[in-house]
Amino acid sequence: MSTINYSEKIPNNVNLSEDKTLQRALEHWQPNYLQWWQDMGPNGSTNFDVYLRTAINVTPEGWAHFGHVKMPDYRWGIFLAQQEEGRKVNFGENKGMAAWQEVPGEHRANLRRIIVTQGDTEPASVEQQRHLGLTAPSQYDMRNLFQINVEEGRHLWAMVYLLHKYFGRDGREEAEALLQRNSGNDDNPRILEAFNEETPDWLAFYMFTYFTDRDGKFQLNALAESGFDPLSRTCRFMLTEEAHHMFVGESGISRVIQRTVDIMKTHGIEDPAEVRKHGVIDLPTIQRYLNFHFSVTIDLFGADQSSNAAIFYSSGLKGRYEETKRDDDHLLKNNQYKILEVQGDKIVEKEVPMLNSLNEVLRDDFIRDSIAGVGRWNRVIEKAGISFRLQAPHKAFNRHIGTFAGHKVSPDGRVISEAEWAANVRNWLPSEEDRAYVASLMGRVIEPGKMANWIAPPPVGINRQPIDFEYVRFN
Ligand SMILES: [Fe+2]
Ligand SMILES: [Fe+2]
Repeated sequence: MSTINYSEKIPNNVNLSEDKTLQRALEHWQPNYLQWWQDMGPNGSTNFDVYLRTAINVTPEGWAHFGHVKMPDYRWGIFLAQQEEGRKVNFGENKGMAAWQEVPGEHRANLRRIIVTQGDTEPASVEQQRHLGLTAPSQYDMRNLFQINVEEGRHLWAMVYLLHKYFGRDGREEAEALLQRNSGNDDNPRILEAFNEETPDWLAFYMFTYFTDRDGKFQLNALAESGFDPLSRTCRFMLTEEAHHMFVGESGISRVIQRTVDIMKTHGIEDPAEVRKHGVIDLPTIQRYLNFHFSVTIDLFGADQSSNAAIFYSSGLKGRYEETKRDDDHLLKNNQYKILEVQGDKIVEKEVPMLNSLNEVLRDDFIRDSIAGVGRWNRVIEKAGISFRLQAPHKAFNRHIGTFAGHKVSPDGRVISEAEWAANVRNWLPSEEDRAYVASLMGRVIEPGKMANWIAPPPVGINRQPIDFEYVRFN
């Protein structure tokens, strides 16, 4: 069950060949997927041989194989984590029942919606990142970008498998629509707003993979708790791949900071304008990018109070992060949770039923996890003897969804006037000039082992290869 059959057109560990109807439906979708990859996938990369990992097994030991592959030939497949004997629905009103192996009729519409929403984000990020290969700061980074892109493509496959297998004709139509919506398209955009934003440069890419792929981690963890077992198993395997995406973000930002503080120290300078003269990214600009990506990403968790979130939980479809490790009744009917809201010119705490605040619970878990990495970035600055510190903004800052939408709040959490916002927004969010400056640094570096001027080399290579390994062969 755990080994993957690569002799088939669609590699899989779900015995696809035993279900001819499903196999035919997916083989029919496959050329449309490849066409989408040609049209919307990484720009100008079709002939590159890229040192990629490909899933070969779903057990934690040695699950991936590394080798040079042309991306259109990547073996995108369908892999579910192994089935857990006797697994139960672990929360909500069906708690204690055997986990569902088929879609329960009464939850069909909600489950479909959950799967489509998750599925939509996967190809969206590939579309958002499609130009970045043209300006990769090194071969190592280009390879990491492409690795993430092919895996997001595989995550789309993962969701499309569920739609095809469990949702009949509706599912097949949804699978087609996943290839038709496009990030930033005016007529047919991606479902969630953050996935319609551009990822214009590599600083934005690292921030995106640190923050927004981490949103993915929390959503996938919540879905890995699902009582619908195929969804749980699908998400558990996706999480194995997701870890690398966040690593690329965290280590990427670390390397940008490292390079900047090295220059600051060598030349004894702190003034951002001076720092920029050396062709590196000043720390306040990094802070503004952080503010932007943090605030846009936490909007993805949805409204602070949501009856949908309550329904998804009570019906056993979507749990909390680490649901089964929590020590409560997993019904939450009598639990309260503290959320924030604006009253006059103050942000105040308010106790509300936890069931309705599960988006906020997940958002708060995400915030804790992402702040830990900000601390690790600060240690790079501290080690260089520089007093500047990065900080995650207050969670009310720059929000467009939930109770803070429509309020102006500073990064340190003060409710402010439109005028104060307008006077300071340039210091808080990336300005046109910031973006133009960062864009001016971007240029493709293709010599093995060489790095663009604005970023330090990684401490180690991929899969224990040297840093000057030929990660991409351009042909
Ligand atoms: Fe993904
Ligand atoms: Fe990801």
